[in-house]
Amino acid sequence: MDKFQELDKEYHFNLYGRYPITMSHGKGSRLWDVDGKEYVDGLSGIAVCSLGHSHPKVVDAITKQASKLMHVSNFFVTEPLAELSKAICEFSGMDKVFFCNSGAEATEGAVKVARKYNSLNGKKGCDIISMENSFHGRTIATIAMGKKKYQEGFAPMPSGFIKSNLNDIEDLKSKITSNTGAIIIETIQGEGGVIVAELEYLKAVRKLCDENNILLIADEVQCGVGRTGYFYAFQEYGIKPDIVCSAKGVAAGFPMGAVLATKKVAASMEPGNHGTTFGGNPLACATSLATLNIVSQKEFLNEVIEKGNYFKNELNEKLKKFPIFKEVRGKGLMIGVEFTELTRPIVMKMLDKGVIVNATADTVIRIVPPLIITIEEIDIIVEKLVESIKELF
Ligand SMILES: Cc1ncc(COP(=O)(O)O)c(C=O)c1O
Repeated sequence: MDKFQELDKEYHFNLYGRYPITMSHGKGSRLWDVDGKEYVDGLSGIAVCSLGHSHPKVVDAITKQASKLMHVSNFFVTEPLAELSKAICEFSGMDKVFFCNSGAEATEGAVKVARKYNSLNGKKGCDIISMENSFHGRTIATIAMGKKKYQEGFAPMPSGFIKSNLNDIEDLKSKITSNTGAIIIETIQGEGGVIVAELEYLKAVRKLCDENNILLIADEVQCGVGRTGYFYAFQEYGIKPDIVCSAKGVAAGFPMGAVLATKKVAASMEPGNHGTTFGGNPLACATSLATLNIVSQKEFLNEVIEKGNYFKNELNEKLKKFPIFKEVRGKGLMIGVEFTELTRPIVMKMLDKGVIVNATADTVIRIVPPLIITIEEIDIIVEKLVESIKELF
């Protein structure tokens, strides 16, 4: 344990089950720890550093904006805020946005917008339906929408949250009542093990929402901002949600979140209904604008799809001979590899070999690398995964 880990152990809450590594710096899809060991980053800070580490355009935007104006209150408009608002609405096909600071704040904000809209449209105190196995953050309302496991010890949960099974339209129909105000779905469940919402299911959900005056909220915190090869993953499905939650990759590593909505839904929120000190801060907005101007490019998005297909093919090819291998899932560069065994030991072995990935949903390895990852780096991740399995099983 180095002196930084000792300090962390002594003074920081023990919340994260940290790896015994102190990170120092990064460049592209590579990271280096304080001892100089190099890693290929297959996790990008859990689907955050979409442009890798120290991308020159992102560094330039931060440096210029930091020396110009870092923060003012939300009483004022700033240039980056106005430009980013327009850009993110155009890229997403939504009409209005407000900015916050994290994914949980975006999903929690979406709940407030949905409740306010419904309260003005005949459903006061409406219920929100979320999916079993979903993850929407760690605040009290967002854990109420997520897995039971994360609620333990934090009772009482707020009321008005109901669960349904993903990809089971009959179950969803059976949960809908006259008091259902919104349905929130991760277009691809991330923490839940990279589980894709099926096209037919999402289309049927949209139809059900339209028929019953229910808002559809797409939680795109993990799967959005280019990760699947579409600006937002729902855009591949040809459906339009009423509210979209975004965060993680939206500012490529700078803490930021966003809630997007249609004009009709956004109109229900008035001054005083919601707010945040840091949301839409000029430094965050300038960083996000530099990021989105790259990530939204068609050629960039197409490359994400191509690299994702290559990655999944390689994984399938190289892993099929192992009895513990079950399947590869996901879209673009949001990939889950399911095994019959717990995956944490495989992840630790890969870490030893200089590759960072993550174990989620017990038996899944989640790979969400920077979107700028190269084919050579993809090959290294596959090679080290195969080596690790050979050594362990
Ligand atoms: C789909 C989804 N929603 C919300 C969140 C919460 O985001 P944050 O950790 O930034 O609060 C996450 C985080 O993993 C997520 O994957």
